[in-house]
Amino acid sequence: MWRILALVLSAAVVNVTATTSSPLDGLYALVQRRLPDHASSFTFQLTEGEGDSYIISDTPAKHHGITVECTTVSACARGLYAYLTDFGGVDIWWTGSRLDRLPRELPVIGDPVHGAAIVPYRYHFNTVTFDYTAAFWTVEQWELELDWLALRGVNLPLAWVGYEYILIEVFREAGLSDTDISSFLSGPAFQAWNRFGNIQGSWGGELPMQWVNDQFALQKQILARMTELGMTPVLPAFTGFVPRAMSTVHSNASIVNGSQWAPGFPPSLTNVSFLEPFDPLFATLQKSFIAKQQEAYGANISHIYTLDQYNENNPFSGNLSYLSSISEGTFTSLRAADPDAVWMLQGWLFFSSEAFWTNERIEAYLGGVPTNDSMIVLDLYSEAQPQWNRTSSYFGKQWVWCELHDYGGTIGLEGNLDAITTGPIAALNSPGSSMKGMGLTMEGQEGNEIVYDLLLDQAWSSSPINIASYVKGWVSRRYLVEPLPSAAQEAWRILSTTVYNNQDPNSQSTIKNIYELEPVLTGLVNRTGILPTVIPYDTNSTIVPALQLLVKAKAQNAALSTVPEFVHDVVDVSRQLLSNRFIDAYTALIDTYNNTNVTSDAVIRAGQPLMTILSQLDALLATNENFLLSSWIAQARNLSHGDESYAAYLEYNARNQITLWGPDGEINDYASKAWAGLISTYYAARWQTFIDYLASTKRLARPFDTSAFSNQMILLGQEWDVQIWGEGPGEHWGVSGENVWGLVDQILETWA
Ligand SMILES: *[C@@H]1O[C@H](CO)[C@@H](O)[C@H](O)[C@H]1NC(C)=O
Ligand SMILES: *[C@@H]1O[C@H](CO)[C@@H](O)[C@H](O)[C@H]1NC(C)=O
Ligand SMILES: *[C@@H]1O[C@H](CO)[C@@H](O)[C@H](O)[C@H]1NC(C)=O
Ligand SMILES: *[C@@H]1O[C@H](CO)[C@@H](O)[C@H](O)[C@H]1NC(C)=O
Ligand SMILES: *[C@@H]1O[C@H](CO)[C@@H](O)[C@H](O)[C@H]1NC(C)=O
Ligand SMILES: *[C@@H]1O[C@H](CO)[C@@H](O)[C@H](O)[C@H]1NC(C)=O
Ligand SMILES: *[C@@H]1O[C@H](CO)[C@@H](O)[C@H](O)[C@H]1NC(C)=O
Ligand SMILES: *[C@@H]1O[C@H](CO)[C@@H](O)[C@H](O)[C@H]1NC(C)=O
Ligand SMILES: *[C@@H]1O[C@H](CO)[C@@H](O)[C@H](O)[C@H]1NC(C)=O
Ligand SMILES: *[C@@H]1O[C@H](CO)[C@@H](O)[C@H](O)[C@H]1NC(C)=O
Ligand SMILES: *[C@@H]1O[C@H](CO)[C@@H](O)[C@H](O)[C@H]1NC(C)=O
Ligand SMILES: *[C@@H]1O[C@H](CO)[C@@H](O)[C@H](O)[C@H]1NC(C)=O
Repeated sequence: MWRILALVLSAAVVNVTATTSSPLDGLYALVQRRLPDHASSFTFQLTEGEGDSYIISDTPAKHHGITVECTTVSACARGLYAYLTDFGGVDIWWTGSRLDRLPRELPVIGDPVHGAAIVPYRYHFNTVTFDYTAAFWTVEQWELELDWLALRGVNLPLAWVGYEYILIEVFREAGLSDTDISSFLSGPAFQAWNRFGNIQGSWGGELPMQWVNDQFALQKQILARMTELGMTPVLPAFTGFVPRAMSTVHSNASIVNGSQWAPGFPPSLTNVSFLEPFDPLFATLQKSFIAKQQEAYGANISHIYTLDQYNENNPFSGNLSYLSSISEGTFTSLRAADPDAVWMLQGWLFFSSEAFWTNERIEAYLGGVPTNDSMIVLDLYSEAQPQWNRTSSYFGKQWVWCELHDYGGTIGLEGNLDAITTGPIAALNSPGSSMKGMGLTMEGQEGNEIVYDLLLDQAWSSSPINIASYVKGWVSRRYLVEPLPSAAQEAWRILSTTVYNNQDPNSQSTIKNIYELEPVLTGLVNRTGILPTVIPYDTNSTIVPALQLLVKAKAQNAALSTVPEFVHDVVDVSRQLLSNRFIDAYTALIDTYNNTNVTSDAVIRAGQPLMTILSQLDALLATNENFLLSSWIAQARNLSHGDESYAAYLEYNARNQITLWGPDGEINDYASKAWAGLISTYYAARWQTFIDYLASTKRLARPFDTSAFSNQMILLGQEWDVQIWGEGPGEHWGVSGENVWGLVDQILETWA
């Protein structure tokens, strides 16, 4: 009954057609899903108005309820979130929804509260997040993610899943055989880089049609949910990357080979063929692609297309007229297929290939697209390496201020809260700014949730958010106990003003743990740049007291030990302590080794602390479901429909991505993980091999042979990648039964 009433109310203010569905149904379903005890307490109403804004107020009725009026469905979702967080004191996290902890008696608002987005676009995902984090996600994981996004007011999520289904149809229509096509497509954990034209083909077996079909079915569910939650999915388009055989089948087409993407990949796996957009065949394939996609998902669910042609591969020529002919051809093909098409470009290339992409070339390339509102550029790494400020605000094209922050799904504490509050506001207010959005473009969605929350919240505040009070509110929602011991707030005051106040632009991204890197004698410590290993704070006065305070808070209120987010954070901070101490242990080992007179026994002894830390780390992480290799592998295998050889193939993909990344370690350890199971069966094995090797060179009075040792490491990785999980000693599915608090006490005793 309440639902029909709400429908009538909203129909009165907007022109809803006389069907049984309302644009707000998706939000009512979200309330039903996350707040079943309050299903009838919330009323949503669409109203006329500019931009995305909401008003939340008390519903005058017998039973207290809440009314959210909004100009868009996304604004209503955000209005609901404003109520749940600011008044209800609850939140939804990557680790799960705690919205069901909303008080039975709904808190009263009093004077109505108004909120508005400061930018039209709130964006989420990086093309590679679909592999580093979401490659094997189930529908349930997508559901949590999309609720998390909708409530935070995201209205422009990227939607790559299932791309290959449509692409295969297009290639078949163009006359390619299934063999031609399958030699082009990449494995389930590597599709992002095939979509980017970085790689082609696969290692470890061809992509099965079962995968393609299942992902296509999943995409339909994802798109339906995004749409009903008021989001406009950013859809794929035809990029120009084609199987080699396209040059034979269409011998007159202008097809060039791209460059080698990363060192080590042979031409059969990279140098991807690119059909140049000014060739008429490009427009034909684009039309076919968009038509098939519209037929599959609906014609009007989105007109915004993600399309990247030069991500980490430079154009065939730097000639300005060549560059503008490429973008002009691409855009013309999009508009011919969809008259409302808007082209979204992931702007990483302008930073990663800054030497090629001079301002003149960027202007020529962007200038090939006629109007300023027909393109959206993601300024991908705005928090540390913005490009909008050297390109006259992308020469007037719309652009989005993005936080990148995490490479390869690496797990390590880091953030710069100041940059993500003041940065976007300064950019928005800069003279001639064409900034139209804010968003998250993390490569992997792993940990440091506070920095991601903060940016999406900043998109609804026209002045920089006050960090100290923000952190307090965030901690109290996250830990949800009454009373919350002040020690927990103090722990986060320390973290937020030190670990999350990293002002050094050369280490702004999740800090890589050195034990996840291939052991070597030199160069592991104090790295800056893309995968920093430098620790930009003093562990003893930050991580150590923060962990002690969290443990103290739990002693003061034992209920904390039942809060999943609290336990997650205790494990995460303990993990960081061990990780930082590993650096000291490693440095001591190398110092010992470099002493020419030292015995092999002394080297073995100096190696002992490294192995102790790895063993403690593995035991610690094994207690928590968020830090398990077995979860990643189980998710992958779970998609096999019980077919054992398909399960092994999926497992290989899952393992190879986080280790060798390529058949022979081409991008070794880029997507490494602080996961139990991975540490015990892989990293520990590598470090033990290293220590033994160091000792043997002393015993045999031989020099360290770096390349021979590295080859040995790659072989070890190849063996590990093809193992089947659960067959080795000490491998188990799910969390271990060990008491996390005992382990944390022990870690503090040893390493504080
Ligand atoms: C390719 O171009 C040549 C020369 O213009 C023409 O004779 C030939 O018919 C074309 N072939 C195809 C397949 O279009
Ligand atoms: C592209 O590379 C393949 C070998 O991988 C080669 O056979 C082909 O001729 C190249 N195409 C062009 C246009 O250079
Ligand atoms: C692959 O690209 C590299 C440059 O990155 C180039 O030297 C090589 O010739 C290319 N190979 C092919 C087959 O196109
Ligand atoms: C898509 O929207 C356009 C413009 O509003 C409309 O003309 C067209 O009929 C719609 N197509 C479908 C399939 O709903
Ligand atoms: C740039 O490309 C155009 C068209 O292909 C050509 O006419 C022109 O000569 C080229 N200019 C340079 C400097 O290479
Ligand atoms: C753009 O801003 C960044 C970060 O503040 C700064 O390091 C860089 O020098 C600026 N670039 C230009 C061209 O102003
Ligand atoms: C795009 O924006 C730039 C900068 O504001 C402006 O100079 C240019 O005229 C605009 N282009 C069009 C086609 O409106
Ligand atoms: C890393 O940097 C720290 C701080 O500057 C310094 O104390 C330490 O010696 C450096 N370690 C190595 C191995 O370079
Ligand atoms: C940090 O504390 C450890 C353990 O008490 C101690 O060994 C180390 O010297 C301290 N490091 C610094 C930089 O103060
Ligand atoms: C240890 O020795 C290696 C190889 O001789 C050298 O490259 C490295 O810089 C040395 N490290 C230290 C900390 O002395
Ligand atoms: C190694 O031993 C020799 C002989 O006792 C001594 O001269 C030399 O200084 C020692 N080297 C180091 C690095 O301790
Ligand atoms: C396996 O897939 C089913 C169906 O999507 C899901 O309910 C279950 O949670 C999955 N299990 C794992 C371990 O991912």
